[in-house]
Amino acid sequence: MSNCTPKPESPLIIGHRGAMGYETENTLASIEKAMELGVDMIEIDVFRIQTGEIAVFHDERVERLANSGGRIEEYNFFDMKKLILDGGHRIPILQEVLKLVDHRVPLNIELKGTGTAGPVQHIVSYYTAQRGWAPDQFIISSFNWDELRAYRALDPEARIAVLVEGDPLEALEVAAELKAEAINPHYTQVNAEKVARIHQEGFKVYTWTVNDPADFQNLKAMGVDGVFSNFPDQMR
Ligand code: G3P
Ligand code: CA
Repeated sequence: MSNCTPKPESPLIIGHRGAMGYETENTLASIEKAMELGVDMIEIDVFRIQTGEIAVFHDERVERLANSGGRIEEYNFFDMKKLILDGGHRIPILQEVLKLVDHRVPLNIELKGTGTAGPVQHIVSYYTAQRGWAPDQFIISSFNWDELRAYRALDPEARIAVLVEGDPLEALEVAAELKAEAINPHYTQVNAEKVARIHQEGFKVYTWTVNDPADFQNLKAMGVDGVFSNFPDQMR
């Protein structure tokens, strides 16, 4: 007799800040590495800097990775481009990432800084209209739900994911309001019941940041739809 219990589909493997286990996070090298490793999607973080560009960077301040200090949002483009990151890399702007990826892999853009929704949507709409990207190759996420509201107001069709630090069930209401695709909790905040409830409400679950293959197997058994990983190749 065959076993009729359906096997959970394998979660999407999302390269976290590119493939930050191998290359300096959020750099072109890290993004290139994630593509080499065959990820299903790449995640990056963004801030708007003083001169209006969208910088691909995770921290509010640059010290942890750069040869100088200060708030990323207070940099102008030329001074930001002078910064040298660990490994000799420079901070890319969003267009450099889009040019490198060239619609080969979907991109999750996490809006870290305030005031990012407008300029990111502007850039995304240009790359979908003029540079061969399909609209569904972008997913926009943020812990800042007001920034997601601003993005939704600009693009009623965009794929949106709601990032949440604590209990993912607390994000159900805002996910419904935003017509989100997914709720993205820390992996320690989920269990099979919560995943089932979120699915029942019509949302996917993408969890971060999963670097241990044993954790990946547990999350897969719970039915999560995607995991962000610094070592995406090790999750296969
Ligand atoms: O988007 C998932 C994950 O990247 C959120 O946390 O701090 O790595 O941006 P963080
Ligand atoms: Ca992130």
